[in-house]
Amino acid sequence: MNKERKLIIAGNWKMNKTVAEALHLVRGLKIELAAVKEVDIVVCPPFTALSEVSKAVMDSILRLGAQNMSEHNFGAFTGEIAAGMLKEFSVRYVILGHSERRQLYKETSELVAQKTRAAHAASLKPIVCVGETLQEREAGQMERVLDAQVRHSLDGLTAPQMEDTIIAYEPVWAIGTGKNATTTQAQEAHAFIRGLIATLFDATVARHVRIQYGGSVKPANARELMSQPDVDGALVGGASLDARNFCDIIKNSI
Ligand code: PGA
Repeated sequence: MNKERKLIIAGNWKMNKTVAEALHLVRGLKIELAAVKEVDIVVCPPFTALSEVSKAVMDSILRLGAQNMSEHNFGAFTGEIAAGMLKEFSVRYVILGHSERRQLYKETSELVAQKTRAAHAASLKPIVCVGETLQEREAGQMERVLDAQVRHSLDGLTAPQMEDTIIAYEPVWAIGTGKNATTTQAQEAHAFIRGLIATLFDATVARHVRIQYGGSVKPANARELMSQPDVDGALVGGASLDARNFCDIIKNSI
């Protein structure tokens, strides 16, 4: 597939996989995906598996991501993980502001912006998630919601930092439901977000920034979604837990 920006496909394992299971999965991916050059491939295991998975992917094309991090850098923050701790395991990416964190743990876009700035300060590439609920979409508020989330979650970034930030458009109604956005819906939302980045930064930054689609991505719909001009990759939940499915999503996207 001829894309303007290099595709980036990340597996968000969420709260799944013991260390042994994580190693089993990642070893399978390493073998199967060894020859893939066209896509940046990222796996995001739970914190507890980062150490072992880090060693396992060391000599491969797979890159490591975390699923969250603190906005603070070390200190009295019980239960939190600092960017500096992730760096110990050669983590390169970090998912921030996933809708599960926004909805279940009440993370605001302002907090997501603090985390995004902290990630850049530690030279981690943030994958910042945004997306509307079904209720918001049906009320015709998709653009308003995306506008506010993008604007506030990326607040305070410099232009080079913005270019090095990945945005994941994940409509909440498509996450874990088996009901993916249509290609038209995805392209519309992605184009809207890119246009907004052009307004907030400039056209060059907007042209460089990569926007992933997330929400029920599977081998059967990956190619169609990825063929959209403003869709630059995928953030995959459920289907990334199975080596066959995740590999097929990547291979079908090339
Ligand atoms: P899903 O999750 O692929 O299981 O829908 C996507 C995500 O939450 O990132």
